[in-house]
This record gives sequence, C-alpha cells and structure tokens, in this order.
Amino acid sequence: MRRQSVARRELPLFVAHDGTSSRANITCKYKCGDACSHRVPNTSGGEYFGDIVRHAMSRRGVLRGGAMAVLAVGAGGVLAACSDDSAAATGGGDGAAQGAVDLGPSAPGTDFTPVAPNTDDAVVVPEGYEQAVVIRWGDAVLPDAPDFDLDRQTAAAQEKQFGYNNDFAGLLPVDGVPGAYLLVVNHEYTSEPFMFAGYDPDDPTEEQVRIGIANHGLSVVEVRGESGSGRLTPVFGDHNRRITGTTEFLLTGPAAGSDLVKTTADPTGTKVAGTFNNCAGGVTPWGTVLSGEENFNQYFANAESVTDPVVAERLARYGIEGAESERKWERFDPRFDIAAEPNEVNRFGWVVELDPWDATSTPVKHTALGRFKHEAATIHITDDGTVVAYSGDDERFDYMYKFVSSRKMQDGNSRAAVRHNMTLLDAGTLYVAKLTGDHPDAVDGSGTLPEGGQFMGSGEWIPILRTDEDGRGESLVEGMTAEEVAVFTRLAGDAVGATKMDRPEDFEPNPVTGKVYVALTNNTKRGVDGNPPADEANPRVNNKNGQVLEIDDDHAGTSFTWNLLLVCGDPNEADTYFGGFDKSQVSPISCPDNLAFDPHGNLWISTDGNALGSNDGLFAVVLDGPRRGETKQFLTVPVGGETCGPIIEDDRVVVCVQHPGETDDASWDSPSSHWPDGGRTQPRPAVVAAWKSGGGRIGF
Ligand code: FEO
Ligand code: CA
Ligand code: CA
Repeated sequence: MRRQSVARRELPLFVAHDGTSSRANITCKYKCGDACSHRVPNTSGGEYFGDIVRHAMSRRGVLRGGAMAVLAVGAGGVLAACSDDSAAATGGGDGAAQGAVDLGPSAPGTDFTPVAPNTDDAVVVPEGYEQAVVIRWGDAVLPDAPDFDLDRQTAAAQEKQFGYNNDFAGLLPVDGVPGAYLLVVNHEYTSEPFMFAGYDPDDPTEEQVRIGIANHGLSVVEVRGESGSGRLTPVFGDHNRRITGTTEFLLTGPAAGSDLVKTTADPTGTKVAGTFNNCAGGVTPWGTVLSGEENFNQYFANAESVTDPVVAERLARYGIEGAESERKWERFDPRFDIAAEPNEVNRFGWVVELDPWDATSTPVKHTALGRFKHEAATIHITDDGTVVAYSGDDERFDYMYKFVSSRKMQDGNSRAAVRHNMTLLDAGTLYVAKLTGDHPDAVDGSGTLPEGGQFMGSGEWIPILRTDEDGRGESLVEGMTAEEVAVFTRLAGDAVGATKMDRPEDFEPNPVTGKVYVALTNNTKRGVDGNPPADEANPRVNNKNGQVLEIDDDHAGTSFTWNLLLVCGDPNEADTYFGGFDKSQVSPISCPDNLAFDPHGNLWISTDGNALGSNDGLFAVVLDGPRRGETKQFLTVPVGGETCGPIIEDDRVVVCVQHPGETDDASWDSPSSHWPDGGRTQPRPAVVAAWKSGGGRIGF
C-alpha cells in the first residue's frame, strides 16, 4: 500500500463558481416537474429543534482531542485562504497541521489519485484507470429489438430497447456463471427536447407521448465481465426485460383494494399500469430490486379542476397542481387527467419491487412503506432476520422514514424463499423520523460548528402505520385511517411533527458497520422566504451544497443518535466540514445524491447539480480511523450530466451517466455534449464501468 509522504501535494480545488447549483433549468423541468420553482409543499406547522427537548450535552459532545486540534488549525487555514484565490486554487488551506501528522497509509480501497474538478465532455477517471460504456439509451435489450434509429423512434421499438435517463443501477451475480450478472437499471425520466428533432412542447405527437411512456421504467440486462478488466458486455439472456409505463404491477399492503386507488380501468384497486420517475433503488439481500417512484406528481394534469378542499389539500401536499402537464400525456391517455380519473395519481409514489430472475413475474408496489417521493429504499437485516427498509422523501422540508418487518427473511434463493421474501415489505410498522440536536441554541444558520465541534444529536422513530400479516392496516395517527396514512403519508408525518429535512435522497445502511447514511442534497429555501429555519441536522440557511447525515440506529427499535459526517461545499469556505479531516486535503463535493459502500466499508457518494462549477462526480469518503472524512473524487461525468447509481465492487466501479448535455444553452441543433459517441452526435444517457488498467483492486 502506498504511503503518503508527510509534505503532501495539495489537492486541486475549483474556485471559479458563483455558488449556485449547476442543475440546468431544463433538467428541473423534465426531471422533477420544476419542484424548485414551485412553493414548498410542506406548509405544516411542525416543531423545530429549538422548540423541542433541550438536550443536555451528551457524552458524545466531548470531541476526540486529536480531531479537535486538527479542526482548529485547519479552519484557521481555510479562513486565511478565503481572501486569496490564488492560494485557494491550489488548495489554499494550511494543511501543515494535519500534514505533519503521519496518518499512515491510505484507507483500504481509497488509494487513488483524485480526479480534479473539471468541465470536460468525458468520463474522467484517475490515472491508471480505464472506463467504457456498458449500454446506452436505445441499445437492444431484447433480441428482436430493431437497431436504434434516432430519427425514426417508435414506442414498439423502445419497449425492447434500453430506456432513457438511467439512474439507479444494481448488479446481481448469476450463480454458477463466473463473470455473469443481471444489470438492473431505473429509467427515471424523459427529456423530450433532447430526444426528438423538432420537438414542440406545446404540441407533442401521440407517438412521441407513447415513446416517452415506453422510455420510463426499468431494464434488466444480462452482462458478462472479462478477466483482466472491469469491462461489462450486454448479452441477450433469458432474464432480459423492459418494464415501462404500461407494464402491469400488483398493489400490495394496506392501500391495495382501497377506494382511494380504484379507477375505471381497475375497479379492484390492485393492478396498476406502469411505474414512473424511478430514481434510486436498492438490491435486497434476497436477490430482488427495490426502486423508488419519485417525482410522479408531474405526469398528472388538471389538479386545479378539483373543488373538494380535502382532495385539493392532499394533491397540494404532493406538489400536484395546475392545468396541463409538461409532457401533455393527458391528451392521449385520460388516466393522466385528474379531472377524468381522480385516483390514478394515488397509484404512484410507491416503492416497487422487481424479481429480475423471472422475466414473467409481476412487479409489486408495496403500500405498507407509504406513499411519497421515494428516492429509493434500502435494506438492513437484523440478527434475527427482521428486515428494516430505509427511505427518504426527496422534497425540500420533507421526511425520513423506515419500515420494520414483522416477518423474518428466509435464507437461500429457492423460488419458495423468494416468494416469501417478496412479502416481507407487506407486514410491519412504518415510522417517520424526528431529530433533536445536542446544541439547540448554537445553530445560527451559518454552518459554524457548535462548541462540541460537530453537529450531532439524537432522534426517535415515530410509528404511523402498522400492517398485519393479513395485509390489514392500523393507523397510528389520530384522525387518519390506515388507508389514508398509506396513501397520504406526508400528511401523517405532518400530524406527528416529523423533522423537516433538506431533501433526503439516498438513505443507506453500511453493510460493514450497520451505520446508516442519508444524503441531504441541498435546500436553498432553508431559512428563506418564511420557510423553516436552520436546525442542527440542517444547519445552513440557503443550503446550496447539502450535507451527509450519519445515523447510529437501533434498527428494529425506535431510537437513534446522529451526526453530520459532511457539510458539503468548497473546502475553503468556513461553512464546510469533512468529518474533522484536514480540509486542504479533500476534494470539493457538492449536492450529495446517491450513496454506495465498497467492500471495505468506505462510503461512495455521487452528486447531482454541483454548485462549485465542476461537472458532477463520484467520491470515496473514509468513515473510520484517523482518515475519517477524507474525501476523494474518483470520477467525473460529461458536461450537463449527473452521476447516478454507483456500484463499487472490489475490482470495478459502475455509474450511470444521466442527462449528459442537458444544459440550458443546448438544443437539438446545438448540443452541449457529444458523449458517448463523439463527433457531431447527440448525447445519450449510458451506463459506464471503470476499472484499474490491467485489472486489480479498486483503490489499492
Ligand atoms: Fe431523482 Fe431525488 O433525485
Ligand atoms: Ca437521486
Ligand atoms: Ca438527483
């Protein structure tokens, strides 16, 4: 293992930025229905840290002495660098204090030269590493798929081709076939102006609408690795499959069969056509894939026609408003018209589960996990086989949830075990999180660390819905039925005073340590325009760069403690924090979104909307030992793109490049990216694998 010398090279920092997110307006429009330009949907009263229990300084408030010394000197260096851009450009901060401390070798799996922030139209990996596209939008998934023809797309062709805007990716090894995997990928949303020449947003054609619907959902593709590299090649395997916006899903749990989800096409309230806006997800220990239906609200039109104040309030709480939808699907399919089909919208916003090992299986929507803008769902198994599913609601000032199963996981991958395990998320208790800070009076919204040197506190999980093993729900919220808690879960969170967070994105347990991490991506409305003020877990007003929460959870229980591992942004700025690590020695990181863990227990973070002027990237963060908080950029994605779906294996890294070239100055006639095909081609979302040249372990 390489030892770093005492006098280390400063890391390159990108300082030519105006501090606002690089997320393009057009991405906001098509990805999340312009959520940021609408009013905050959570107008509930709720409580804030300052109002709740005033915690005495816990024993954790006493910071480790060594870390405190490092932090004090490092912070001085950063402040000195702030007024001097030339110093800042080379790292600026006085790293001498920690530089003089020999931290020993790099943490296992993180020994690579960080990629510098950049705006290249390329996937950039560290020196000594290579990368290649695995599969891209339009490539064949099924053997009878026609060749992709950008100028002659059809919905029928797309139903056999790789969908648009890949987000989550899961890689499931095929038993007994070395190097073979199922690659399962979410296709979150479509960006029609970048998909069709001459697209008219005011007058989409019916075929464009059908193609858009077919481009959503998921893909299952068998891939093969090769020895000596991490390259992955798609093959036409028996498991290959496209799930689209019209594939049949089964609703399970307490909302299944409820009047709230019955429609003209489905009077039983149990069969849903399709899935939309599948953002992140998780591979379960029993070999299925979970996927979060996130910004589903944007596909539904004519909420403004609703006159019933109770229904209108429920719609508004989910950001469902206005007349026409952006894509105007309602013109060709009345289920997207709330005036015509008021309950169709209640059939989206769930965690879906897909058994990728059976290409004929019907995927499921688990209503016991509640309905909100699920970023994803990820699983921790306790010692007795209880399943804990964590899920964040990605909206400004919305909540963090967990579900604890009553059934236990069965081991093995027999069909009987999979059938049983696919019912684990149908019986148990749904909780919402309430956080308390240890320093309620010390948080002023500037990001200044409290006296203890760390933002930290405790929390409780408030139960809101219990589902019996026969599927019957019991509401734990006064004034709401079980079906209402399942379908209008945000209102249940409001009623019990859950903590309003800065957009909870991925929420993932570390398989090595059991600690749980939440990416809180940003929230520029925090403390602004009459919105809730900063609190200890969301410590900055006008939060442009986000933070990462570390939770020590009593997984099946109701209490936890927490701290902020990272307060992201420019390390030269005083409002950032990197787990106590020397800030002159970290890569700048902004807008954390997807999380993953490598086999060594390091946290990997991909970003969405970097507010520091660089393309989005993938970062490794050390969690334990003297290098806790060390943050190193492993790759960056092409201009306009977002890094999604990271998978970190011992000898391979996989990322999804979502919306390359989606910048506000770009158009069909003048693309801002030509990735991945180069020349004058249109950009295409794609999955990428990266590996060490000649093979070998990542980060060694
Ligand atoms: Fe689709 Fe929360 O990002
Ligand atoms: Ca996301
Ligand atoms: Ca995102």
